[in-house]
Amino acid sequence: DWKMDSFANEQINLIREKVGDGKVLLALSGGVDSSVAAVLLSKAIGKQLTCVFVDHGLLRKNEGDEVENIFGPNGNYDLNFIRVNAQDRYYDKLKGVEEPEKKRKIIGEEFIRVFEEEAKKIGKVDFLVQGTIYPDVVESGLGGESAVIKSHHNVGGLPDYVDFKEIIEPLRDLFKDEVRKVGLELGLPEYLVFRQPFPGPGLGIRIIGEVTGEKVKIVQDADFIYREEVGNALKEYAEANNGADAPWKPDQYFAALTNMRSVGVMGDERTYDYAVALRAVQTIDFMTAESAQIPWEVLQKVMNRIINEVKGVNRVMFDLTSKPPGTIEFE
Ligand code: XMP
Repeated sequence: DWKMDSFANEQINLIREKVGDGKVLLALSGGVDSSVAAVLLSKAIGKQLTCVFVDHGLLRKNEGDEVENIFGPNGNYDLNFIRVNAQDRYYDKLKGVEEPEKKRKIIGEEFIRVFEEEAKKIGKVDFLVQGTIYPDVVESGLGGESAVIKSHHNVGGLPDYVDFKEIIEPLRDLFKDEVRKVGLELGLPEYLVFRQPFPGPGLGIRIIGEVTGEKVKIVQDADFIYREEVGNALKEYAEANNGADAPWKPDQYFAALTNMRSVGVMGDERTYDYAVALRAVQTIDFMTAESAQIPWEVLQKVMNRIINEVKGVNRVMFDLTSKPPGTIEFE
């Protein structure tokens, strides 16, 4: 695609001009936007760029390692990569906290603290990169609906906790599909480029009520199974239908852990375990959404696998709720 190709080259030149021999810092989340921004910066200025990736222990299964494999020392790009394993810090801070907004606030503040500490270690930073894309610019200007209903800790003003001269936002003029095109062009793997949206507070808002390391493990395993089976079913559909998307293809789907425990039976044993909720939605703008009609047999397979493979779960439910009145996430 010549347009995206020239976009990348143009940005790389602009970045070089702007940065000179300065030092650049980027908070890498592993999402599409910050990853594409990281690659552009890496191509432009190599090791003048430091990417800090905070693993808050609320990522999806294997995600931390995937990010490290791509951007770390054994990965494909020329940059400094710092992974901060902050799991225990987050779990400590979240201990006993049940209120959703409080959880979001703690997760957001802890991120700032961890990032600030890393920035101090690096010393003088000249530029800070943000993966802002065009819809973010518009949404924060208008005070987007979801920004009001739930505090989006990763959208907002300039961070004041790192000393820097200037901000760099190489994706500011792009829509999401354009960011993806640039990502593919720059050699990022498809699984990263076509990742589903994943909230900044991560699994912290997909575990209803108190977050613990044990619950994180449960929701990671259940979610992995769900995504694997739905992914397979989507692929099978496409293969059987000349590459067409299934009409039920969700725009976002994931498992959440309710704080409900109930009685069940496994073998001849009584169980008293958690219920997992499966969510799948179809939406255009994520402001309104309908539940996606995942085929019954796919749901049944997922249910069987979760019950058999994930310890601590004895019930699986499917959330039918539209948005509104529900939100897509649970908290
Ligand atoms: P809700 O739950 O508000 O979600 O219906 C709408 C979309 O926004 C995502 N979401 C977030 N994304 N930080 C983010 O980057 C957040 O704090 C956040 N909360 C919700 C959600 O996954 C869905 O795609």
